[in-house]
Amino acid sequence: MLLIKNIGVLQTPVGKSSLCGSKQAQNLKLTNAAIAIENGKISAIYKDGELPIITNDVHVIDAGNCLVTPGLVDCHTHLVFGGWRHNEIPLKLRGATYLDILRAGGGILDTVRHTREMSEDELYNKSKGFIDEMLAGGVTTVESKSGYGLNLDNELKQLRVNKRLNESTPMDVVSTFLGAHAIPPEYQGKPDEYIDYLCDVVLPEVKRQNLAVFCDVFCEDSVFDVEQSRKMLLKGQKLGLKSKIHADEIEAIGGAVLAGELGAISAEHLIATNEQGIDSMAKGGVTAALLPATSFYLNKTYAPAREMINKGIPVAIASDFNPGSCPSLNLQFAINLGYLKYRMLPEEILTATTLNAACAIDRGETIGSIEVGKQADLVIWNAPNFEMICYRFGSNQVKTVIKKGEIIQ
Ligand code: NIG
Ligand code: FE
Repeated sequence: MLLIKNIGVLQTPVGKSSLCGSKQAQNLKLTNAAIAIENGKISAIYKDGELPIITNDVHVIDAGNCLVTPGLVDCHTHLVFGGWRHNEIPLKLRGATYLDILRAGGGILDTVRHTREMSEDELYNKSKGFIDEMLAGGVTTVESKSGYGLNLDNELKQLRVNKRLNESTPMDVVSTFLGAHAIPPEYQGKPDEYIDYLCDVVLPEVKRQNLAVFCDVFCEDSVFDVEQSRKMLLKGQKLGLKSKIHADEIEAIGGAVLAGELGAISAEHLIATNEQGIDSMAKGGVTAALLPATSFYLNKTYAPAREMINKGIPVAIASDFNPGSCPSLNLQFAINLGYLKYRMLPEEILTATTLNAACAIDRGETIGSIEVGKQADLVIWNAPNFEMICYRFGSNQVKTVIKKGEIIQ
């Protein structure tokens, strides 16, 4: 047995399903607490100085009176990619926007060129470095999207890297198929044909090889419209892949409305969303996965988080780590922005980066909170409370990371 004792504050959301409205701000807080772990799972929780009998075979960790939370869950990333995009800096300084660069054949398509050129092993080694950095920052589960291959071989290559990362590192890596991320050079001007190719050829093979659990689409002006997105996501649903959608990131062309109509598990970005989109998501039980570091890096406004919470939409916060719109994998920075820009309460932000994020990737049953029976994914912080994590920015405030009951950091 592993015993973490002398926990100053144990703070966690509670339950197996996402929390919305005022429930998003409800965290359990236990003082002078301890957590017992057996077989990688939480077996008991103690408070107010209570402790079990400590026999010789118990491995004890002293939390030093610090804060302990569930391991963070980063529910939206694009972490497997070739190259970087710092070459866009001069274009951006001259006023080019994200979509200007993409329309000119750069942006995502530049990353596609580099990703296609890299071997599976090279991609694995590069992404493994990111996984190590994420673990050190307190992230114990991550979602990772394809979408830089844009043809059968290269999409499968990216998804196999996800699988290898999941199997060979302590991180749980949850895989999403995002073949509909951009229109590849081979299909320029023929987006409908590309969607048909994805639906008829690529996605069935992804399913056959069991390489993804979600299907996602970039529903955006100059990328895929609502009908193309609907077709892609319905095909995914038919094959048993739940829907995610990059919706209303730059223009509200109807992505959030579609998310509600299709009962997507999550709609992501939502910087530009409107009342219609919010109402549809609320009706469809969709979790909003918000990505404030992308607003920061693209110099955009911030998604209307408070309005969504008030309308009963569960809000999750993720990094969106990718080489174009958010070259940072620091989820602690997204937490800082959740407080500074969304004006969310620390308790709401903890729920957004643990339980609600877990539910956005369908893992609420096993992770996202500190409860008996859940996987022992925990962070001991160099801080007395979660307010400190929202407040200090730019430093890694993690002290110890525990994954499935093992100390990994
Ligand atoms: O979530 N918006 C689309 N996809 C990513 C960016 C990918 C890229 O620019 O390489 C995002 O922001
Ligand atoms: Fe994204």
